[in-house]
Amino acid sequence: MRQPDWDPAKARANRTEAYDRMRQECPVAFSSQLGWSVFRYADVVAVSADTAAFSNVRVNDDATGSIKTRSIPLEMDPPEHTPYRKLLMPLFAPDKMRQFEPRLRALAERDIGRLIDAGEANVVSRFADPFPVRVICAFIGWHEDEWQLIKSMSADVRKAMLERSEADLCAAHKRWSDYIAPTLSARRKMPADDATSWLLAQHLDGRPLSELELTNILRLMLVAGHGTTTASFGLLLFYLATHPDDQQSLRDKPEQIAPAIEEILRWSGPLSTMQRTVTKDTGLHGRQLKAGDRLTLMYSAANRDPQQFPDADKCLLGRRPNRHLIFGSGVHTCLGASLARLELRVALEELLKRTRRFSLTGTPPATNPDIWPTADLLPFTLHFER
Ligand code: HEM
Repeated sequence: MRQPDWDPAKARANRTEAYDRMRQECPVAFSSQLGWSVFRYADVVAVSADTAAFSNVRVNDDATGSIKTRSIPLEMDPPEHTPYRKLLMPLFAPDKMRQFEPRLRALAERDIGRLIDAGEANVVSRFADPFPVRVICAFIGWHEDEWQLIKSMSADVRKAMLERSEADLCAAHKRWSDYIAPTLSARRKMPADDATSWLLAQHLDGRPLSELELTNILRLMLVAGHGTTTASFGLLLFYLATHPDDQQSLRDKPEQIAPAIEEILRWSGPLSTMQRTVTKDTGLHGRQLKAGDRLTLMYSAANRDPQQFPDADKCLLGRRPNRHLIFGSGVHTCLGASLARLELRVALEELLKRTRRFSLTGTPPATNPDIWPTADLLPFTLHFER
């Protein structure tokens, strides 16, 4: 039995201090919860780039290599990953984002308007939770009023993955397949101007995508497209509510909202970690990793690495360059980053434009951000002044 080098659960109490120590003293560390962890920026980038030694294929996945319920393209390695990624990239290209922006802005105007009208509101349950699900549903052309069902099915997937229960994951995926199938069939009969119909029209190696491939792509989009964005909204709103000068400066200079979002997220870390499986015995900073070991990319630690970011612990809204790893690195770099950036920017623009000030009321929540894979948002209430 390998001795642990650190305890991630204990590190949560003061993760900045713990990550500083690990980056310096033990950059490749073992724990029973996370397997191997890498903390330095350069190591997270190097491991993400080495897809031959560090695989994204789910550990318990069926050994036959069939697609089964693997999330496409996330749970694939090159060369299998490459054609799917190429096929999906145009969906998130700048022209598609420009096309979608008016629809997204209408959603933001409505939801932000309701939030401000309330005067005072729990922004997690009233906005950060539902809005990103509504956005991804609008993007792929599904009913946005089913956000609670989508959230609950996504929570089942997350729980099964956290508990590493293949049986629960299969059950959760079955629920998703049953949910997705009728919409696919409806769009086959009557195409619409949405991402689902776009997917149905695509070809891979001269053939249309199969039902299973379409399901595994759409499920990933629906699951990946909101938990991280919900966490990001919570962290952004909390930061701006508790830093009134920064809030006002963005209200005065809306063109600075987009880079400010990048820096607040680098500093606060909506997605702390992702995992890989070691495929062959590999040495890293003198540690011997064995085939089959798990490895965790510690994005939040890498994003505060002083070797990469001067004054790494300071949130400097004008930081340039800012090559953070919020959206990952390498071939799996977030496919939906353009959509995430668009929705975060548009919603903040609407909120700042329509308010004179917003501030935190009541007791600030105790933060508990280091839960894999996304920050668990604790509720907090904001007071809005027009
Ligand atoms: C602020 C919000 C978001 C964050 C922080 C985030 C973060 C990430 C990260 C770190 C990865 C890389 C995972 C890895 O290397 O194993 C990733 C991949 C991915 N993300 Fe996002 N994401 C966000 C929003 C979205 C949205 C809105 C979508 C919409 C569909 C999306 C879809 C995907 C997909 C499909 C992949 C897999 C890409 C591939 O394997 O080639 N994400 N995301």
